[in-house]
Amino acid sequence: MAAPPCSSLLLLSLTTLLLLSPTTFAQSAPAPAPAGPINITAILEKAGQYTFFIRLLNQTQADIQIDNQVNNSRDGMTVFAPTDNAFHNLPTGTLNNLSFQQQIQLVQYHICPRYYSLDNFQTVSNPVRTQASGQDGRVFGLNFTTQAIQVNVSTGVVEVPIYNAVRKDFPLAVYQVDKVLLPIEFSEASAPAPGGSRSGGSRSADSGNATTPSTGNPAGNGAGKMSVGLGLLSGILLLCVGLLS
Ligand SMILES: *[C@@H]1O[C@H](CO)[C@@H](O)[C@H](O)[C@H]1NC(C)=O
Ligand SMILES: *[C@@H]1O[C@H](CO)[C@@H](O)[C@H](O)[C@H]1NC(C)=O
Ligand SMILES: *[C@@H]1O[C@H](CO)[C@@H](O)[C@H](O)[C@H]1NC(C)=O
Ligand SMILES: *[C@@H]1O[C@H](CO)[C@@H](O)[C@H](O)[C@H]1NC(C)=O
Ligand SMILES: *[C@@H]1O[C@H](CO)[C@@H](O)[C@H](O)[C@H]1NC(C)=O
Ligand SMILES: *[C@@H]1O[C@H](CO)[C@@H](O)[C@H](O)[C@H]1NC(C)=O
Ligand SMILES: *[C@@H]1O[C@H](CO)[C@@H](O)[C@H](O)[C@H]1NC(C)=O
Repeated sequence: MAAPPCSSLLLLSLTTLLLLSPTTFAQSAPAPAPAGPINITAILEKAGQYTFFIRLLNQTQADIQIDNQVNNSRDGMTVFAPTDNAFHNLPTGTLNNLSFQQQIQLVQYHICPRYYSLDNFQTVSNPVRTQASGQDGRVFGLNFTTQAIQVNVSTGVVEVPIYNAVRKDFPLAVYQVDKVLLPIEFSEASAPAPGGSRSGGSRSADSGNATTPSTGNPAGNGAGKMSVGLGLLSGILLLCVGLLS
């Protein structure tokens, strides 16, 4: 009896799912493995105060992408991790106003496809590419300015100093940022008139109502589940893109 075609499809999907969840085959050995694969979630969990960013990485499957790309790329990676306070300080509704596609872009904007040490920022040429760069044909770049050993990262909307490396060794650098790096591209997208000045319109949009955050439990509602489902799909896409590049 030949298997009907749909069961081979099912098998394919199951295989894909298994491939996408490495925990399935994880050993239960609790010993810390220094030479083991890099796990961005574990790094951020250990550092504390990144609950919200961890959740976003998970929902957009960027965590899997980072772990894979760090392992497979010679260039390494750099992640700018906003603290929970950074998310709480966002104007109410900022995240909820973003489409899921924009949430993915926001996360990808916090990731550079190269390893940068703090010293590298002294000589880097602006704007620096992020994982979001080139999407919609737009720049999605980060600008770095330095003064002695002080390094700032700027998006054109927010500027924040970099003073703490959660992880500093090649191939993965993780830097704490005390503000969410909102790309200027998001402000431009909501501006009705094209050709506005680069720095003008964006600030007023962000300095409006900075009341208490409604973002305490963003994944606790139905939309959260939806996001996870969509996240799996886009995660597969991102994974494919990552493997192809
Ligand atoms: C990474 O670490 C997190 C938290 O410790 C864990 O839940 C997850 O299973 C790990 N992922 C892999 C691929 O080992
Ligand atoms: C990521 O999200 C999935 C689906 O909600 C969940 O099962 C898994 O435990 C999450 N992983 C981490 C490390 O939070
Ligand atoms: C890391 O990459 C190597 C080859 O590039 C591969 O053999 C290995 O399985 C990868 N490890 C993980 C944990 O992905
Ligand atoms: C969210 O969108 C609404 C409706 O477009 C707008 O009035 C509000 O200012 C936006 N809030 C933020 C923080 O962007
Ligand atoms: C970094 O930004 C702060 C404001 O957030 C500013 O006071 C400082 O001069 C900036 N430093 C550099 C090197 O651009
Ligand atoms: C970033 O730096 C480049 C090159 O100096 C400049 O053209 C661009 O306007 C800057 N962008 C922002 C958002 O500051
Ligand atoms: C801030 O929110 C209050 C009520 O939530 C509203 O009355 C007020 O117009 C808002 N201000 C701005 C600048 O959006």
